[in-house]
Amino acid sequence: MSKLKSSLAITGEKGVDINKGMIGLFFEDINYGADGGLYAELLENPNFEFLDSRGDKDAYYQKFDGLYGWKAYPEGTAVLSITEESPISKTNPHYLTVTTNGEKQGFTNRAFDGVTLKKGVEYILTFYARGKAYQGNIEAQIKGQGKVYASALTTGGVQGEWTQYSLTLMSEEDVRNGEFIVCLTEAGKAEFDFFSLMPSDAVLGLFRADLVQFLKDITPGFLRFPGGCIVEGNELSNRYQWKESVGPRIHRRNNWNRWAVHENNQENDFTSIYSHYNQTLGLGYYEYFLLSEYLGAKAIPIQNVGLACQYQSTQKVASDSDEFNEFIQDALDLIEFANGDADTKWGNLRAEMGHKEPFNLEYLGIGNEQWETSEVDYFHRYECFEKEIHKYYPDIKLVSSAGPNVNTDTYNAAWKWVREKAEENSNFTAVIDEHYYMPPKWFLENDDFYDEYPRTVKVFAGEYAAHLGNGMNRPEVSTMEAALAEAAFMTGLERNGDVVSLAAYAPLFARINYTQWSPDLIWFDDQKAYGTPSYYVQKLYGNHMGNRTLKFEKGGDWEALYATVCYDDETGEHIIKLVNTGSEARETEVALQAVNSAKQEASAVILSAAALSDRNTIEEPDKVVPVSVVLPVDNGTVRLDLKPYSLTVIRL
Ligand code: AHR
Repeated sequence: MSKLKSSLAITGEKGVDINKGMIGLFFEDINYGADGGLYAELLENPNFEFLDSRGDKDAYYQKFDGLYGWKAYPEGTAVLSITEESPISKTNPHYLTVTTNGEKQGFTNRAFDGVTLKKGVEYILTFYARGKAYQGNIEAQIKGQGKVYASALTTGGVQGEWTQYSLTLMSEEDVRNGEFIVCLTEAGKAEFDFFSLMPSDAVLGLFRADLVQFLKDITPGFLRFPGGCIVEGNELSNRYQWKESVGPRIHRRNNWNRWAVHENNQENDFTSIYSHYNQTLGLGYYEYFLLSEYLGAKAIPIQNVGLACQYQSTQKVASDSDEFNEFIQDALDLIEFANGDADTKWGNLRAEMGHKEPFNLEYLGIGNEQWETSEVDYFHRYECFEKEIHKYYPDIKLVSSAGPNVNTDTYNAAWKWVREKAEENSNFTAVIDEHYYMPPKWFLENDDFYDEYPRTVKVFAGEYAAHLGNGMNRPEVSTMEAALAEAAFMTGLERNGDVVSLAAYAPLFARINYTQWSPDLIWFDDQKAYGTPSYYVQKLYGNHMGNRTLKFEKGGDWEALYATVCYDDETGEHIIKLVNTGSEARETEVALQAVNSAKQEASAVILSAAALSDRNTIEEPDKVVPVSVVLPVDNGTVRLDLKPYSLTVIRL
């Protein structure tokens, strides 16, 4: 059988201007992405505030479970109880009381899958303690299989007032599933609160080093946070409130996580195995701004508009109430927190937290995945926010929502509304946020989705992923098939970069065995992480964006082949992306017509797989990863065999 042949001739004619920072990140504390994930804290329920969440739409409830994850050590010795008589923090009032009747009795922490230590790395343990007729010391250990890997001891005895202690733990060998143990050196009674065990290699003292590197490697243009549905909450009580997430960590109100009750139903007695999924807010807005800065990404925080998740609740605050005005004030205060001088109220808090310079916030999302119904006046709410925000901050670019799905009545209504408003006020919305979780076939058939879009209002493809299947803990659905469909579709995002300004795959992280939503971009356990084929598609697009597209002519056979060409004025390079979704290799010729290239070589990166079902795993993280090659250039022409099932990026 003769090989398929195709050619692509770059005419040199400009297409459209595009946002070089179009490819960004969607971050949400779902799948233990923050606590137990990117937040490098190793202990679980470190503040003795955890809630056990149950129930279903409009009927959620919590049981306080302050001892969750903690138990006596050795078992059956120390007596543990939770008290709130004289706390350190009124917002997190519960603390642990321990009574022992002999030496070396105390308690352990579950620490997700047990403590993981890297040999030679220091782990900083901090906690508050108060002796109750106890003046002995506190010993901390990491133990496993009867062996003590690391230990440290306070000196000078425990004070009778709340005092913070700090110890350093280090092991000479790698440890997994280690037991974190805290003991009183003598019999007695002491109280404890706000534990933290943080690896000293955590980036900025906060972020798990390997996970944050995955993000940095995408060279993302933006970071959207804190979600996602988490912005809205299952009910207003557990919506994300940015003001609760800043300032000293001990005063950040522990909150139940929206994903603790995912897929609750009659069959599971309205209880998920993740019912103890809480948000300690160790990663709060300040930390998300720091992360954005570290990644070189523009921060895009999303604000609640007085609505709980429209899927999960009917709760809302009336849009003509004082309470609603507080939601608007929250948005104004957030802008001041990010951009205000250090002599403003919220700018001062930012400065006190360690960042005197502004964060230069440009974008703000108004509502997450909202849509207009007879009961929910999202359009009106957005208009109220827009009016007030632009009164004080006309340069802030606002993100509005097109609802949960494309091509629906609610999506059409949102577009109609926003386009009409934009005619009167070009500053009305900067981008409208569209979400689509669809089968791979949809992505393959819709690379032209934006070709005919009116250009008046720009798009934020804010959450998308090709779904071969979905559900809890399903790493197997993140295959090359899904990734290729996304890569093919993304040629359309780039080609239409004059209307699609921002794009992010969702969700980002998934902790193995702690995942409510699959597919996801990056999977990890306590020790390691891997990128899915979809991750490498995002990385290749993120690393290889230009600032304008170029037109090209197609020749030969283009069945199952997708392409886009852009140019980077900064580096003076043509960037060609070719997606071969077919099972056959094809001889391809890429020619720079009308462009006199004296270059002898082009660099290329190829992501390919032997089968559509190929995927990466924690055991085999590099099965589907990009490979770099150098290709000869003959008189402005590159000839290559495009691999089956591949995304190839050529720069010349
Ligand atoms: O990405 C997972 C969820 O999908 C987001 O939280 C929400 O916005 C959407 O429904």
